[in-house]
Amino acid sequence: MPLVKFIGHDGTTHEVHVDTGTSIMRAAVDNDVRGIVGECGGSCVCATCHCYIHESWLSKFGEPNESERGLLECVGDLKPNSRLGCQVTVTDEFDGMSVTLPPSQY
Ligand code: FES
Repeated sequence: MPLVKFIGHDGTTHEVHVDTGTSIMRAAVDNDVRGIVGECGGSCVCATCHCYIHESWLSKFGEPNESERGLLECVGDLKPNSRLGCQVTVTDEFDGMSVTLPPSQY
């Protein structure tokens, strides 16, 4: 099971083991990680799963698709490494990755 480290905006860290094939959003919500909401349940329509993927891992996930790109334009605090957590799936090769959470999802 890959380990994912969530880093909150206040610096709080939360490490969770994730079943391979689980999205970042689902990993956070199912483990009570504060800072990711996942309001639409992963349908890519709410953008409340915005997060920042550490640069060393970002390229491994490939580019966001058109609907994710469009929704990312609506988030506050957009950065070059912004992604929607429901569109990023963790597999074994991402063991040890870090995900930073924005100050707010709204
Ligand atoms: S959970 Fe709604 S867009 Fe990701």
